[in-house]
Amino acid sequence: MSRLFLVVVSLILLGLQTNSDTVNSSSVVCRSFYMCGSVNISYPFWYQNDSLSISDTDYCGYPGFGLSCSIAAGGIYKTVLRLPKDTYHVTNINYAHQTLTLVDADVTINESCPKVRHNITLNTVPELHYSKYALNLSCFYNCSSIPSDFYSYYSGNRLSCLANHANQQSFVFQEGKVPRGFDWYKNCEEHVVTTVISPNSVLINRINRLLLAGFELYWGRIKDCFVCENSGGRCLYKKKELLCFCKNGTQRTESCSGYGMFNSNLPLLFLSLNYCENFRHNSMITAG
Ligand SMILES: *[C@@H]1O[C@H](CO)[C@@H](O)[C@H](O)[C@H]1NC(C)=O
Ligand SMILES: *[C@@H]1O[C@H](CO)[C@@H](O)[C@H](O)[C@H]1NC(C)=O
Ligand SMILES: *[C@@H]1O[C@H](CO)[C@@H](O)[C@H](O)[C@H]1NC(C)=O
Ligand SMILES: *[C@@H]1O[C@H](CO)[C@@H](O)[C@H](O)[C@H]1NC(C)=O
Ligand SMILES: *[C@@H]1O[C@H](CO)[C@@H](O)[C@H](O)[C@H]1NC(C)=O
Ligand SMILES: *[C@@H]1O[C@H](CO)[C@@H](O)[C@H](O)[C@H]1NC(C)=O
Ligand SMILES: *[C@@H]1O[C@H](CO)[C@@H](O)[C@H](O)[C@H]1NC(C)=O
Ligand SMILES: *[C@@H]1O[C@H](CO)[C@@H](O)[C@H](O)[C@H]1NC(C)=O
Repeated sequence: MSRLFLVVVSLILLGLQTNSDTVNSSSVVCRSFYMCGSVNISYPFWYQNDSLSISDTDYCGYPGFGLSCSIAAGGIYKTVLRLPKDTYHVTNINYAHQTLTLVDADVTINESCPKVRHNITLNTVPELHYSKYALNLSCFYNCSSIPSDFYSYYSGNRLSCLANHANQQSFVFQEGKVPRGFDWYKNCEEHVVTTVISPNSVLINRINRLLLAGFELYWGRIKDCFVCENSGGRCLYKKKELLCFCKNGTQRTESCSGYGMFNSNLPLLFLSLNYCENFRHNSMITAG
C-alpha cells in the first residue's frame, strides 16, 4: 500500500514538473515549410499570412523573417519581405549557405526602366547582413547643370530612360567612386544608395540587369535560439514570448533535449520506474 502511495506521489510530482516545462501544444502548429512558387519558405523564415494582423500572429521562425506570398499578374508567385520602409521580392533562399536574394520591389515596377526609390534600411532586422559580394551604387536623380564633357565620359553611368523633359539627367556610380568636379549632392534632386551583387566588370552600364538581379544577404542565428535549435527544436514566438517547438509538436520553454532541463527530475523518473516495476512484480506474485 505504501509503495503504491509513493508511486502515485512520484507520478504526480513528475507530472507537475513536466507540465511546468511543456507548454500548451494545441494552439500553434508550426508549418515545416510553405511553397510560394519555387521559393521554399522554411525555418528560420516563416509564412506570413497577409490576411492576418502580424501582432496577433504566433510563428516558428525569427522576428522580421516573415515572408508573404502574393500572386502577381500572369499567375507569377512573388515571395515578399516587408521591412518597415521597403518591400523586397525574395527570388532565392539557400538554406545550406544561409543566404537569400532580394530584389527591390520598386525596380520591378517598370522592368524596362528600373528605378530605385529608397535607401536600403536593413537595421530593423539585425540578423540580416550584406554578403561579401555586395556592391553599393549611388543613384543621383534629376541632376541639372552637368558639365557637357561628363555626358560622353560617363555615358555608361547615365540612366538614360529616366531623363525627364526638363532635360535633367540621372546617373549611377559605384559608391565611393562618384566623380569629382561636380556637386552631385547639391545639383541633383535626390540621392539613393542601393546594393547589387558585385559584377565581374567594374563598368556598370548593364545597370538595369544588375538592379533586376538584386542582391544577396546572409543571415545569422539568434543567440536566444541556440539552446533550442541545438536540441533539434525551432524558436517559436507566441505573443512575443520565446518558446521552443519540438519535432513531435510539443512546446517547451527552452530546449527539446530532456537531459539539459530534466537533470533534477531524472532520479525521480528512475525511482518511479523502479517502484512501478516492483509494484508490477509484487502484484504478479500475489496474483500467482
Ligand atoms: C491551450 O490552447 C487552446 C487553444 O488555443 C486553449 O483553448 C486552451 O485554453 C490552452 N490551454 C492552456 C492551459 O493554455
Ligand atoms: C522545403 O524545405 C524543407 C526544410 O529544408 C524541407 O523539409 C522540404 O522538403 C522542402 N520542400 C520542398 C517541396 O522542397
Ligand atoms: C490566411 O488567413 C485567412 C484568414 O484566416 C485564411 O482563410 C487563409 O486560409 C489563410 N491562408 C493560408 C495560405 O494559410
Ligand atoms: C553598403 O551600404 C550599406 C548601408 O549603408 C553598408 O552597411 C554596407 O557596408 C555597404 N557595403 C559596401 C560593400 O560598401
Ligand atoms: C524627377 O523628375 C521626374 C519628371 O519630372 C519626376 O517625375 C520625379 O519625381 C523627379 N524626381 C526623381 C527623384 O526622380
Ligand atoms: C517604362 O519605362 C519606359 C522608359 O522610360 C517608358 O517608355 C514606359 O512607358 C514605362 N512603362 C510604364 C508602364 O510605365
Ligand atoms: C540615402 O543615403 C545616402 C547616404 O548613404 C544619403 O546621402 C541620402 O540622402 C539618402 N537618401 C534618402 C532618400 O534617404
Ligand atoms: C516530445 O519531445 C520532447 C523533447 O524531445 C519530450 O520531452 C516529450 O516527452 C515528447 N512528448 C511527446 C508527447 O512525445
